[in-house]
Amino acid sequence: MEIVDKEIDWRLRVFDSMSYPTVILLPDKTIVAVNKRYLEKVGVEESRIIGRSCKEIKQEYYPDQKFPCNNNSECPLAKAVKYRTGQSVLLKHTDLHGEEGWEERVYSPILGGDGEVDYIIESIRDITRIKNLEKMYSGVRELIDRVVQSSVSAIIAADRRGHIIMMNKAAEMLFGHSAYSTDNINIEDYYPPGVAREIMSKLRDERLGGRGKLPITRVNIRHKDGTEIPVEMTAVIIYEDGMETATAGIFNDLRERQGVERQLKEAHAQLIQSEKLASLGRLAAGVAHEINNPLTSILLYANLMREKLEKDHPLEKNLAYILEDTERCKEIVKNLLAYSRQTNPTRKFFKLNDVIDESLRLIRDQKLFLHIKVVEDKAFPPILVNADKNQLCQVVINLIINAIDAMEGNGTLTLHTFENAEADKAYLEVSDTGSGISPEDMSKIFDPFFSTKELGKGTGLGLSMAYGMMEDNHGRIFVKETSPQGTTFTLELPLVPESDIILFETIG
Ligand SMILES: Nc1ncnc2c1ncn2[C@@H]1O[C@H](COP(=O)(O)OP(=O)(O)O)[C@@H](O)[C@H]1O
Ligand SMILES: [Mg+2]
Repeated sequence: MEIVDKEIDWRLRVFDSMSYPTVILLPDKTIVAVNKRYLEKVGVEESRIIGRSCKEIKQEYYPDQKFPCNNNSECPLAKAVKYRTGQSVLLKHTDLHGEEGWEERVYSPILGGDGEVDYIIESIRDITRIKNLEKMYSGVRELIDRVVQSSVSAIIAADRRGHIIMMNKAAEMLFGHSAYSTDNINIEDYYPPGVAREIMSKLRDERLGGRGKLPITRVNIRHKDGTEIPVEMTAVIIYEDGMETATAGIFNDLRERQGVERQLKEAHAQLIQSEKLASLGRLAAGVAHEINNPLTSILLYANLMREKLEKDHPLEKNLAYILEDTERCKEIVKNLLAYSRQTNPTRKFFKLNDVIDESLRLIRDQKLFLHIKVVEDKAFPPILVNADKNQLCQVVINLIINAIDAMEGNGTLTLHTFENAEADKAYLEVSDTGSGISPEDMSKIFDPFFSTKELGKGTGLGLSMAYGMMEDNHGRIFVKETSPQGTTFTLELPLVPESDIILFETIG
C-alpha cells in the first residue's frame, strides 16, 4: 500500500509541476483534477472547478472562446473518447487585458486495462507568440515578394540542378521566358554557351567578392529568341547548413546605357575632330595667304618670259613645267582657303539632284569612268536646298574621284538623294564598291594633307575641303559606312522650310 501511495504521490507531483495548464476529465466531461498552472491561469480555487463539466467551466471563464461544445462530432474530447487517440483544437481568445491570443488544447486519452478510455488529459498551450511570429513572417514574406516582383532589375533563382524556381516580371521581360513555363529550361540556357559555368566558378571563388558572392560583372545573357543582351549582374549562392541549395541573380539591362555611352563617345570624338580641324584651318589659312601672292607673281613673270621667248627655244619646255606646277600650287592654295573657310559661299535655292547632274557632266567623259557602272538614284519629287551649288559640286566631284580611286577603276558608283522630313534634313550619298577605309585611317581622313595615295596622286585636301564647305553651308559630311566591300559618304543639308519653297516657286 505504501508503495502505491508513493506512486500516487509521485504522479501528482509530476502533474502539478507540468508547465502547461492541465486538466484531467472523465469521459463524461466531468473535471476530476487540475494542476497548479491551470488554477493560476483561470485565477479561481480548485473547489470551484472539480466535479463540474468542462462545458460549464468554459462558458463561465472563457465566454468569448468558441468551443464546439454543442456538437459531439466536433468536440475534441468526445472525439478522443470515441477514437481513443489524441485530438487537438486551436482557439482564439481575448485575455483580461483585451489582447488577442491563441491557444492549442491537446486531449490525450488514458486507457484502462480493458482498453476503454478511463480519463482524458487536456493540456493547454499558449501559442500566441508562435502565431504572431507566423503572421509577421508571412507579412515579411509578402513584402519581400512584392519588392522582388516590382523591382526594375530582373531577379531569378535556380535550384542546385539549375532549374528555375523563381523569376520576377522584369526577368520574364529580359529573358523572354515565363515564370510558369512548363518547358524544362535550365539556367544554362539563359546564357550563351559556357557563361553559366564561368559564373558558377567565379561565385565559388573566394577571391572574387567572397565565397558564394559575385561582385557586379558585365556579361551577355541570352533571350528566348536567341539574341544576346549585355547586362550588369550580381549573383549569390544560397547555403543551408553549409550546403549549396540555390543560386540567385540580379540583372540590369545595359542596352540603353551602352547606347548613351556610345553617343557620348561619338560626340566627344566629333568635338575633338572639329577642334583639331579648326586649328589646322587657321594654320592653313595663314600659309595659304602668305603663298598666294608670291604664286601670283611667279605665274605673272613666268608667263611674261614665255611670251618673250623665241619659238622652239630650248628653255620653253622648262618654263612650261614651272607654269604647270605653279598652277597646281594655286589649286592647292584654293582648296586650303576653302577648307579654312576663307571663301564666301553664295547660297541660292536649287534642286539637290542638279548637283549629281552637274558633277557627272564635268567629269564623266574622263578615262577614269571606263569600267565604272554609275547608278543614279534621285529623289522624286526633287528636294530643294539652299546652298552654294558650286561648292557642293566641288565636294561631290571630290567624293566621286575618291570613290573611283578606291575601286581602282572597276566597280559601281551610286549617287543617291533622299530626305528625312522628321529630321528636317536632305541627303546626298556617294557609295562605292571599293576597298574601304581602315579603322586607323578613319580618324584622319578629314585632316588636311592626309592621304594614303602615292605621291603626286593625292594632295590629301579633298575631304578636308569638303568638310569646311559643308559646314559653311550649314550641313555636314560623314562616313555612313565603310567595309572591305565599299564605302558610303553622306552629305547632310537642312531642308528648306515649306514657306520658302512657295516663295521660290513664285519667283521662279
Ligand atoms: N571612297 C573612299 N574609299 C576608301 N578610302 C577613301 C575614300 N575616300 C577617301 N578615302 C581615304 O581618305 C584619304 C583622304 O582623302 P582626300 O582628303 O580626298 O585626299 P586624297 O584623295 O588626295 O588622298 C584618301 O587618301 C583615302 O585613304
Ligand atoms: Mg581626294
